[in-house]
Amino acid sequence: MLELNRIHHMDAFEGLAKLKNESVDLIVTDPPYGIASRNMKTIRQGRIMSTQEAWGSWDTFHPFDYDVFILRLISECHRVLKPGGSLYMFLAEEQVGYFARKAVQRGFRLRNLLAILKKAPQPSIYKNAWRRGFELCAFLTKGKTGSTFNFLSQAECVNTFAYSTSDRYTSHPTEKPLAFIQRLIRVSSHPGDLVLDPFMGSGTTAVASKTLDRRYVGFELEPTYIRMAEERLGSISNETQMRQERTGVNSP
Ligand SMILES: C[S@@+](CC[C@H](N)C(=O)[O-])C[C@H]1O[C@@H](n2cnc3c(N)ncnc32)[C@H](O)[C@@H]1O
Repeated sequence: MLELNRIHHMDAFEGLAKLKNESVDLIVTDPPYGIASRNMKTIRQGRIMSTQEAWGSWDTFHPFDYDVFILRLISECHRVLKPGGSLYMFLAEEQVGYFARKAVQRGFRLRNLLAILKKAPQPSIYKNAWRRGFELCAFLTKGKTGSTFNFLSQAECVNTFAYSTSDRYTSHPTEKPLAFIQRLIRVSSHPGDLVLDPFMGSGTTAVASKTLDRRYVGFELEPTYIRMAEERLGSISNETQMRQERTGVNSP
């Protein structure tokens, strides 16, 4: 049995296997996108480097292996979610079609795509395609009815969310905006519910859950990231974190 309200130093699939069928109310996760490479360049902290160096070698996959990874992840998320539970999964643009098709085949209902909009996206090095100014998050539910959806307000329940990449709590290369994750959790769960993130990174899902009185559990391979997450969790002041959610700027 896994201890709750903890980020376990464990491979995601090893951890998922320890969770019982239909034991989780909500999954919010930001897995590797499978797009980092040694050859593709990007700019990070003003320096040109490979996307693998910028995002981490955990993001590099052979395309065949990535498809297998996504299939396993969909299947395990479906198994551990309670009927009516929701899944929010960040994905690279390239993966959305495959992911959505397979998730629906597995029994999920695709409800929306959400976009987080970067106010100042990375400059383009190659200048041969559009700069990437948003990231996508798929919203799915398990089963046809009975899903929690606390419609907060028209302004808060639009599927875009603008944020500044400079508003970060850690040096994790792909930290997600806390106010956005808090919003997903407020909409799709109730206090006391169990929120799972199999790829915790700097712990944003855990921090959001804790500030909103939800239970959480998750996994992360890198000890450095677990330490970052634990530091964040240890210094939570509900008031300050909630204030950020209240003042989080929404779509243009
Ligand atoms: C995209 S990041 C998540 C960032 C997170 N949303 C945040 O706000 O900090 C993905 C994380 O998954 C971790 N990871 C990659 N493969 C993993 C695996 N098989 N099991 C557990 N964690 C893994 C990486 O170390 C990385 O920190």
